[in-house]
Amino acid sequence: MSGIDMTSWLKNLAACEACPLRHEGNRGPTRYSGDPSSPLMFVGEGPGGVEDEYGVPLVGPSGQLLDKALWSVGLTRDHVYVTNIVKCRPHNNRTPTLEEGKRCANIHLVRELELVQPKVIVCLGKVAFQYFYGRTASIMRNRGKWFDYQGIPVMPTYHPAFLLRQTGQELVESKWQVYYDFKAAVDKAKEAAPDYIYKSAEKPNLLAQYEDLRNSRHF
Ligand code: URA
Repeated sequence: MSGIDMTSWLKNLAACEACPLRHEGNRGPTRYSGDPSSPLMFVGEGPGGVEDEYGVPLVGPSGQLLDKALWSVGLTRDHVYVTNIVKCRPHNNRTPTLEEGKRCANIHLVRELELVQPKVIVCLGKVAFQYFYGRTASIMRNRGKWFDYQGIPVMPTYHPAFLLRQTGQELVESKWQVYYDFKAAVDKAKEAAPDYIYKSAEKPNLLAQYEDLRNSRHF
């Protein structure tokens, strides 16, 4: 466990000026959503427009799909920890480079890992997976297989935005693959933390929950 707590980390994050991403026309760094004491950490790519507005990861169209996928395996967003590799929205929602991912995550995600100490990490898409395993790590070839990061089991799977671009039979297959990957992740988390409560009776309304944060964010 590091010497800092979540509140100090959030303060450091809000003040971060460590790289040019902060100055690509966004409202500043976005934080995490969910429960820092959750055994399950989901790592996305970087904030889009809705996330930049609200200051939290995965609350836009990809986030809505993530919520449905979580619900299908008995999880709700308030009982998992969700974060991104890069915290500041890249201009025009471009995909952050591996170098940008490393620079940001080596400052912030590493702290989150120390503070949250997840039992299982789920990488949502290539940017997250390549941060942990390098430029040649392929989601297409490796999704559904277990990896190890400093003793923590890591499950790579498709990013929800990938599913949103699929249609027809491909969409059906990809959704099932994500379902099985999430199921494997929650089963492993439950082995490590059987007493943790993984689900609320109802899906939380994330946008309502972060309305105050949204109102505090400006260009
Ligand atoms: N929004 C996020 O916060 N993360 C992603 O990976 C995609 C959209």
